[in-house]
Amino acid sequence: MNILVIGHKGMLGSDLMIRFTMAGHDVTGLDIDELDITSREACRDAVRDAGPDAVVNAAAYTNVDGCESDREGCFAVNAQGIGNIALACRDRGIRVVHFSTDYVFDGRKSAPYVEDDPCAPLNVYGESKLEGERLLLETTDNALLIRTSWLYGRRGKNFVRTILEKTAVTDHLDVVDDQVGCPTYSWDLTGAVNLLLEGGHRGIFHVTNRGSVSWYDFARKILEMAGKTGVSVSPVPTERFPRPAVRPRNSVLSGRKFLETTGKTLRFWHLALAEYLSHTACYAADPKVAKH
Ligand SMILES: NC(=O)c1ccc[n+]([C@@H]2O[C@H](COP(=O)([O-])OP(=O)(O)OC[C@H]3O[C@@H](n4cnc5c(N)ncnc54)[C@H](OP(=O)(O)O)[C@@H]3O)[C@@H](O)[C@H]2O)c1
Repeated sequence: MNILVIGHKGMLGSDLMIRFTMAGHDVTGLDIDELDITSREACRDAVRDAGPDAVVNAAAYTNVDGCESDREGCFAVNAQGIGNIALACRDRGIRVVHFSTDYVFDGRKSAPYVEDDPCAPLNVYGESKLEGERLLLETTDNALLIRTSWLYGRRGKNFVRTILEKTAVTDHLDVVDDQVGCPTYSWDLTGAVNLLLEGGHRGIFHVTNRGSVSWYDFARKILEMAGKTGVSVSPVPTERFPRPAVRPRNSVLSGRKFLETTGKTLRFWHLALAEYLSHTACYAADPKVAKH
């Protein structure tokens, strides 16, 4: 398959480039320095020039707190941006793969969220991603929309890296224990994306690593697996760390539809974490990997 990955320098996009190449696809990548997805004309021209079988959009405005003070900029990328891509692809009969987030839900459900649960985002980022979902699915029925959560990977800022960096300057951490979700290794997600894409699937899928955990227990596991035995962690309520964007308390996504459709599940989150940590030292040593 000929695949155009937009946002190929980001955390997920960079792993998608590798995964698709390894799977034998012809892959081209564009990022903001070559294509700004907020321009409808630029999207039309880029899709026309690449002439792909599928466009996979990993470009997004991902600064969740930053979105609160830049609603317009955030919607331009996360909503209008994917709308522009969808339009360019619909006109040429091209498949679109796009990503959304657990933050489209309000977190009040006491069980894992399924694909057709009602959405009610608590923050501007979630609102913009939900509007992007709507624009995509209204524009084309040739779309695969994957909601995922709590991503970490080789590139960019993520929770695992932040916790490990903090251990260089402190031996005690306070971490919130009243938000629960599914940590997801970007590399594992790319395998699921390739499977769904090659299988010709359409519609909404929730894809995360298996199992769920609070940020506090996630932090404890990171420290334990990284051998940082001298660092202690205390559980604290969300109110101790007021942030511009409100987060859902429960954002666990159910992987049942993915299992029923593909016969597969992603591995448990702590197994993925162990593999990621075993690679972290070489990621850190490779200057090409540290984009941010
Ligand atoms: N990270 C998470 O925890 C998480 C959780 C759930 C869902 N998701 C979703 O997963 C997808 C991938 O996220 P990620 O964490 O890999 O994102 P990321 O690392 O922030 O990468 C996004 C890429 O898109 C680029 N970009 C930003 N604005 C653009 C524009 N106008 N035109 C073209 N490119 C643009 C960014 O460039 P700059 O870096 O220069 O801005 C960056 O290279 C997104 O749809 C995100 O909403 C992420």
